[in-house]
Amino acid sequence: MSIKDRKKDHVELTASGEVSYRKTAGFERYDFVHDALPEVNLDEVSTEATLLGREFSFPLFLSSMTGGYDEGQSLNAMIAETCEKLNLPFGVGSQRVMIENKEEADSFKVVRDKAPGAFIASNIGGAQLIGNLPEEHLRLITEIIAANAIIVHLNPLQELIQPEGDKAFQGIEKGIAHLVTNSDLPVIVKETGAGISAEVASRLLSIGVQVIDVSGAGGTSWSKVERLRMDPEPGDSLFDDWGIPTVDCIKQMASLRETFRFALIASGGIRSAADIVKSMALGANFTATAQPVIKALKHGGREQLSDLLQKWQREMTMILTLLGCRTIRQLNPTHLRKLP
Ligand SMILES: Cc1cc2nc3c(=O)[nH]c(=O)nc-3n(C[C@H](O)[C@H](O)[C@H](O)COP(=O)(O)O)c2cc1C
Repeated sequence: MSIKDRKKDHVELTASGEVSYRKTAGFERYDFVHDALPEVNLDEVSTEATLLGREFSFPLFLSSMTGGYDEGQSLNAMIAETCEKLNLPFGVGSQRVMIENKEEADSFKVVRDKAPGAFIASNIGGAQLIGNLPEEHLRLITEIIAANAIIVHLNPLQELIQPEGDKAFQGIEKGIAHLVTNSDLPVIVKETGAGISAEVASRLLSIGVQVIDVSGAGGTSWSKVERLRMDPEPGDSLFDDWGIPTVDCIKQMASLRETFRFALIASGGIRSAADIVKSMALGANFTATAQPVIKALKHGGREQLSDLLQKWQREMTMILTLLGCRTIRQLNPTHLRKLP
């Protein structure tokens, strides 16, 4: 099956199928500590947050998802327009497809046309970095969207389940180190839903990666997605629930703050404004989400996506007020209560 068809299947299945983890990302383990006497006014509360030196209207990155086929182009255009309007950062889906077939470049190029001022990240798989990403490929994928950062995705679970997946992982770390040294853009490394441990993050930060997006377990299960692609019958796999829950990833990263300066993105199962605020209180600098974005776009186009994101921002403002916080930066673990 071609990469194009695979990307199409992924969108269809995540937008309509039941492809979430059975285990949760962990946000339900915490409740907010309500402040009955908040010394703040709702209209003074700011949800603004910073990532890689840029200020955004609230701390939500629209995760890397698509490109490389016709509908991918229109989905990318809608994501780009929405992010331009709402001042949110986003990433395009894996650009491997346009390295292999230059005709697919338009489905990525569209994002810069639609979002001239937005923060946009390129995306490439770790497997493509084995033996080092050729200079011309790096230029190709970043210049076409005038990228502000480059995201490397790690997805060994998905590759193992996918019949046509890459099964060799040795050399990815070296390839990332080479990319960091040879790119002028900041490098973000993300998982795709199975999580990044503190040990792996430490290796990545040691070679100069600036941002870790944990993409932990509890949201989209790529084992389920790949299994449904092969066999639409309901079933079960040992690997459907494989991975480190997002909250556990966020908490593990605290131990690295003394040694490294880095930004931490919490993703994998971010499904509400409450999940965003809890992530920030637990120590993340930003959050990201994928499945709700694709669902909103497939069901109601750019309007539904814009409505969803604006609702989340309004709800975040209310949550901050009820915690007595004027800004996101004031959030800390004391605003959460661990449930028994
Ligand atoms: C339709 C779809 C396509 C995706 N394609 C990519 C991709 O090309 N590159 C990538 O890094 N992650 C990709 N992802 C993974 C997401 O960026 C994200 O890490 C993962 O889905 C977990 O977040 P969620 O629980 O909010 O969906 C994709 C996710 C979805 C739903």
